[in-house]
Amino acid sequence: MDKRKIIFDTDPGIDDAYGIIAAMKQPDMDVLGICTVAGNKGIEFTTTNALKLVHLMDYDCMVYKGAGESMLKVSEDAGATHGADGLGGVKLDYDESKLSDMHAVDYILETVKANPGEIEIIALGPVTNIALAIEKDPETMKKVKVIWTMGGGVHRGNITPVAEFNYWYDAKAVEIMFSIGTDVPIHMIGLDVTHASVFTGNDLTFMKLEGGKLGEILFEMVGPYIESYWKHSRYTGCVIHDLLTVIYAIDQSVCPEEGIYHSNLRVSTKGITIGQTVVDLVNSWKLPVNSIVPMKVDSRKYKEIFFEVLFGKEKVELYKKHVKS
Ligand code: RIB
Ligand code: CA
Repeated sequence: MDKRKIIFDTDPGIDDAYGIIAAMKQPDMDVLGICTVAGNKGIEFTTTNALKLVHLMDYDCMVYKGAGESMLKVSEDAGATHGADGLGGVKLDYDESKLSDMHAVDYILETVKANPGEIEIIALGPVTNIALAIEKDPETMKKVKVIWTMGGGVHRGNITPVAEFNYWYDAKAVEIMFSIGTDVPIHMIGLDVTHASVFTGNDLTFMKLEGGKLGEILFEMVGPYIESYWKHSRYTGCVIHDLLTVIYAIDQSVCPEEGIYHSNLRVSTKGITIGQTVVDLVNSWKLPVNSIVPMKVDSRKYKEIFFEVLFGKEKVELYKKHVKS
């Protein structure tokens, strides 16, 4: 089977970890490399965390360190949401030899150039590396097959009333990324759908009970996330934003066709709305389509695909039969 060629661009990050692990377990995906960026935590933390995930999954790929600050010189991280170390404090080993000395931007460009029309970029953090690659060699970046990006929101924000964290962290990079959206399909999985697909306490408990060692590690990892959602939103569960992005990349039917919008997207790059994505769902501006934005999600199907990919058919049948989300 010809596997899909995947490059991650990510700021692990608890929900990044869930998504990266799902892709590593997905039979038709080949994760060629993991590029890191500052966001949830500083670049040293996010890079070490990527190495920890490669080691945990005993996966054959390298890690490529990327941008340590945004194009707008933001370097403030996401605080305690992901725990002090960015992975919920779970003690994980890692192997420094899996860290390449090639910069993430150069790796992206080299890999796309060598595989025109085949590389899928899954962006789970600020898109600084992608924007730097576009600035350095736009013609090569237009040969990316597809970009799946977690970020933005049509009707809501999380770091500000109107902006989502990844896109707020580097709004200039978002503007540059969507400038190639007329050549490269860019699927924006935003807060409108991620917040419509909460992992409940039942879901997470099932994962701990039936997910073996990996399920236990993922349950421990999500601890600070659950505390944060209870403290700020009174959820007894959590939204695993980046995981939805990867599950949607695996099977787009988790977001019903009637809720998929092919629209012009613009982003605010200054002032109190910085990072806000303005998505012209009704094509009032008559501007070129540069984004694909799902606005509906089948939350149950999303979680069933996650449990099947990670733990197999027998476990997902147990989930379907006994766990009411
Ligand atoms: O707003 C959610 C996004 O910001 C997720 O990617 C999370 O990991 C953080 O990076
Ligand atoms: Ca992330």
